[in-house]
Amino acid sequence: MLFQLRMATNLGLIQNLYFSLYPEKDHLKDFEKVMQTLPKLFASRPNELKEQDAERLQGENWYQSEKMVGMQLYVEQFNRDLKGLHDKISYFKELGVNFLHVMPITTRPKGENDGGYAVNSYDKVDPRYGTKKDLLALTSELRKQNIYLMLDFVVNHTSNEYPWAKKAKQGDKKYQKYYYTFEEDTIPKEFEKTLPEVFPQTSPGNFTYIPEMEKWVMTVFNSYQWDLNYTNPTVFLEMLTNLVNMVNLGVDVVRFDALAFLWKRMGTISQNLPEAHTLVSLFRMCLQVVAPGTIFLAEAIVAPTQIIKYFGENHTRGNECEIAYNASLMALLWNSIATKKTGLLYKSMANVPSKPKDCTWINYIRCHDDIGLGYEDQFIWEMGWNPQQHRKFLLDYYCQRLDWSPATGLIFMYNPKTGDGRITGSAASLLGLEKGLKQKDEALIAQSIAKIILLHGIVLAFGGIPMLYAGDEIGTLNDYSFLKEKAKKEDGRWVNRPKQDWHVIETIDKSPDPQAEIFRTLKKLIYIRKSDPVFADHSLPNLYHTGNHHVLVFERKGKDNEGLIVLCNFDENPQVVEPSWIKKLGYFTKGEPKDLVSGNTIKTKSGLLELLPYQMLWLKKS
Ligand code: GLC
Repeated sequence: MLFQLRMATNLGLIQNLYFSLYPEKDHLKDFEKVMQTLPKLFASRPNELKEQDAERLQGENWYQSEKMVGMQLYVEQFNRDLKGLHDKISYFKELGVNFLHVMPITTRPKGENDGGYAVNSYDKVDPRYGTKKDLLALTSELRKQNIYLMLDFVVNHTSNEYPWAKKAKQGDKKYQKYYYTFEEDTIPKEFEKTLPEVFPQTSPGNFTYIPEMEKWVMTVFNSYQWDLNYTNPTVFLEMLTNLVNMVNLGVDVVRFDALAFLWKRMGTISQNLPEAHTLVSLFRMCLQVVAPGTIFLAEAIVAPTQIIKYFGENHTRGNECEIAYNASLMALLWNSIATKKTGLLYKSMANVPSKPKDCTWINYIRCHDDIGLGYEDQFIWEMGWNPQQHRKFLLDYYCQRLDWSPATGLIFMYNPKTGDGRITGSAASLLGLEKGLKQKDEALIAQSIAKIILLHGIVLAFGGIPMLYAGDEIGTLNDYSFLKEKAKKEDGRWVNRPKQDWHVIETIDKSPDPQAEIFRTLKKLIYIRKSDPVFADHSLPNLYHTGNHHVLVFERKGKDNEGLIVLCNFDENPQVVEPSWIKKLGYFTKGEPKDLVSGNTIKTKSGLLELLPYQMLWLKKS
């Protein structure tokens, strides 16, 4: 009954979206197939999940709650396999994590496979992780423990070993049409004129010649990742089935991987095209009918004005993704650390259009990927910097080209043709802990701990879901072991995909080590966040200018006029802020407020509010 109701409500929209991609006059039959498939997909959804869907439709937006704290992890690096992950649920409970992004676990090619993002299937568990039974046992336990699960849906490409790719290689024309295949390189060459390169060092160009099939195939990412051809409606239908099969395993959030790339058009960069949005919305609305409790995360690491569009606008408003990565904030925080100034952050954030009220961000500082320097040139100019030189400075600062820099990062995908490059490395290493420990420099160690807390504190308070990257909660350093592995050594992102150090965690409660201090402080901050609805994502953060270029100040407001003000010092020297305006906002009604982070009452003896180097204050309105 509920299914019919949802179908009736969404049919018009689904139809419009579908026919705008696949014109009605040619594709009526294809649309009928979608209509026949949806009830079958619904029938295949386990009852327990159907009940959960119904509950979620009644309740508030669970993903905007202050209770949400995420962690991203690779199963094999975290604790062996799915059973091993199951065994560590108590660890998440202890830290306060209730949302897991589990990196790809399905079958993939034996050699290079982009950490599982080259998929050989969408629902077969790779034996290295265990079995489907293990996965179902895990998802069922996570549900019991109120822990949400996010898995990737690698929607843009399959591996070159996926059954469709294999058939295409054998000459099967039907499956060659599932990808962008070309007999000659004329069209590929035309495309190349405007297509950027994602991995210019390891996988230059966007097409690969496949001798078995005597054809070129589009491979925007790695040469072994074949781009799916969504102009073919059968691809959409088959991928919808793959999506639902995956979601039915007990997935709460689908991470729509590389969704900006879903539609290609010659003469463009083939990212963020309107058809890509229509397609995302079409997937979304079909899922709304079959599994409405499941939501979408946009993995679109693009310009802020483009990211925001994945929340849906115009005809897809509210009907694309509920969550998106706040990649802009992430990159701007790294810029602020290197420059010790917050101006670019203020300028850029002021330019990000507000998000719709039912949507939220994932705020994070590190993940399994690199850090791109995608700031708007115009704002860099306005800061008085030359964009090209400024990006070079950031690469130099983070990638060991400046002796005085505390950072130990690696340069990633340096493109000599353009001078562009990206940064990789663990949060702790990029923030100076690796160098501090190596040089036994206590001051540097203390400074790096303060920076680690500062950045995590910001993402915990900014509004949205904070996503920790496993290992960062214990200050894990770069892991250079990938250099010895053939299938990994060319991809520097592996430097930040370390094994979880359970030895460190065993003694974490008592240890005086930096790792333990980081863990204990983050655990406390998570606890504070989860205990106070002011951290829920019901309002946009308000950024305040203080006149001090090293400081970032923002305020969060609760539903009933509660307030939290966050003050951050990005400088290595103490900084002051004139506090009368904070007083006017109502933060001093009971005298000098207590900083929730340190537990100390703040002092404004001199009339100015003082921030220690890299200090962050959380002040509650009293
Ligand atoms: C996403 C993933 C990245 C992967 C790419 C291709 O950007 O985060 O790790 O390489 O998609 O699947």
